[in-house]
Amino acid sequence: MRVAIFGASGLLGKALMGEWSGDAVVGYSSRDVDIRDASAVRAIAEETEPEWIVLAAAYTDVDGCENNPDLAFTVNRDGAVNVAEAAKETGPSCCFLARITFSMERKRRLMKPMMRDILRAFTGDQRLKQRSNCSS
Ligand SMILES: NC(=O)c1ccc[n+]([C@@H]2O[C@H](COP(=O)([O-])OP(=O)(O)OC[C@H]3O[C@@H](n4cnc5c(N)ncnc54)[C@H](OP(=O)(O)O)[C@@H]3O)[C@@H](O)[C@H]2O)c1
Repeated sequence: MRVAIFGASGLLGKALMGEWSGDAVVGYSSRDVDIRDASAVRAIAEETEPEWIVLAAAYTDVDGCENNPDLAFTVNRDGAVNVAEAAKETGPSCCFLARITFSMERKRRLMKPMMRDILRAFTGDQRLKQRSNCSS
């Protein structure tokens, strides 16, 4: 299975890249593609021809979002729409990973089991798929 991960340089994306095995997984940081740029996102989808796109890219600075809501909306809303549209237009299924707010210490502790659940969801366990909020 070919998979494209947006946000591969972030905390979640790095964990996914590190844990995922057995599939052809390609990761993109904001330096590779800015999800605010719809045509760039689409070009990645066309070039990579993934069967799944995972969106782990987001503007996650809570204070930054508060102080700069325009940037927050263009990345977290419009960027997500761009990814969904690229998936719809080019074929792959899409998985959005919803926000979970924890302290860094707790995040680190929870990350591995959470990644296992998410990856199991991708391998076809429908019950886990629902729990992980993945949709196709
Ligand atoms: N961490 C968790 O425990 C966890 C759990 C479940 C869900 N999530 C969700 O997963 C998402 C990412 O969380 P995170 O903790 O991994 O955040 P993070 O460490 O801040 O990583 C953010 C990622 O998004 C990328 N990014 C930011 N703006 C972008 C843009 N305009 N275009 C393309 N990529 C962009 C960053 O790329 P650069 O490195 O190039 O800036 C980085 O790879 C959030 O929606 C979060 O709510 C996180």
